[in-house]
Amino acid sequence: MTGAPPLVVGIIGPGRAGVGLALALARAGEGRRYDVRLHGRTKKPVPKPLTLTVGPENEPPAWIAQAGVVLLAVRDDAIRPLAEALARAGAIGADQVVLHLSGAQGQEALGPLVGSRAALGSLHPLQTISNPEHAAERLKGAWAAVEGMPRAVQAAEALAHDLGLRPFHISSKAKPMYHASAVFASNYFVVVEAVAQRLLRHAGLSDTEAWEALRPLVEGTLENLSRQQPMAALTGPVARGDVATIRRQLEALTHDDAVLYRALGRAALELAQKQGMDQATAAQVAMALATDLPPVMRKA
Ligand SMILES: NC(=O)c1ccc[n+]([C@@H]2O[C@H](COP(=O)([O-])OP(=O)(O)OC[C@H]3O[C@@H](n4cnc5c(N)ncnc54)[C@H](OP(=O)(O)O)[C@@H]3O)[C@@H](O)[C@H]2O)c1
Repeated sequence: MTGAPPLVVGIIGPGRAGVGLALALARAGEGRRYDVRLHGRTKKPVPKPLTLTVGPENEPPAWIAQAGVVLLAVRDDAIRPLAEALARAGAIGADQVVLHLSGAQGQEALGPLVGSRAALGSLHPLQTISNPEHAAERLKGAWAAVEGMPRAVQAAEALAHDLGLRPFHISSKAKPMYHASAVFASNYFVVVEAVAQRLLRHAGLSDTEAWEALRPLVEGTLENLSRQQPMAALTGPVARGDVATIRRQLEALTHDDAVLYRALGRAALELAQKQGMDQATAAQVAMALATDLPPVMRKA
């Protein structure tokens, strides 16, 4: 811990990410100390040692001028309107840094604040925060995309380091693609598991049984992925070139599930080909995945 005065970090948006980062910064034991302020538009309990200030959403928090770094931790669509409100109120000064936490947007979302001459940028932890109490441990070792004006990048990197995050630079233009990657890695992974659970239910298991049955498989897959890259970890009918199995499964699925199966199957085929699948097998698999059954043969 240094002898420097604590840096005031003001967080607007007391949701999962806002409260999680506020807690993690308040508890950051090494590096710089942080004096964390948290602000929202509705009163609600926040975990200790945090306190929450509350006010109308178009009015800046009373502490805003004291914050060296202001983090806008509101949902992506609310970032620009909040930046507009802060700009209208003349709340942000040239010596401040304003960062948002969106994965899909860059510093341009803070465009209304350009006139303030504050340093603008973004810091996106590549981690899922559902329970703020666990954010500090979850963030340790996670990567974090950083972009923006030089002073903003510097501040974002310093925050990231103190949280145990591993910052890396990304251009504003690349952020939608970067965030789509995160959506596949985390959100759609969850969705695919939910689809698998539903299919097992159709096969006769209860919801609870279905997830209990699938969990060891999911854990085994994750363990493989912790040691291997996705391409090497792929198993299953597409990787084996089991065309008859693919056709049988497609016949059993509803139209929507078959559409999903086909799209993921084509992505799996791409991996299998990179792993050395011969062209003739790949062509047969591609054909099986491309064939849509006539409506009479499909489930509704
Ligand atoms: N959660 C994650 O895993 C995660 C990870 C990385 C980055 N992020 C980023 O973090 C940001 C926030 O996401 P989240 O998951 O924390 O969302 P969230 O849980 O929905 O929280 C958003 C919070 O912002 C508040 N809010 C909205 N507009 C406001 C305003 N004008 N003034 C003050 N407070 C306002 C909301 O308050 P009300 O309750 O009153 O609506 C809510 O408490 C997003 O940009 C997201 O991309 C999230």
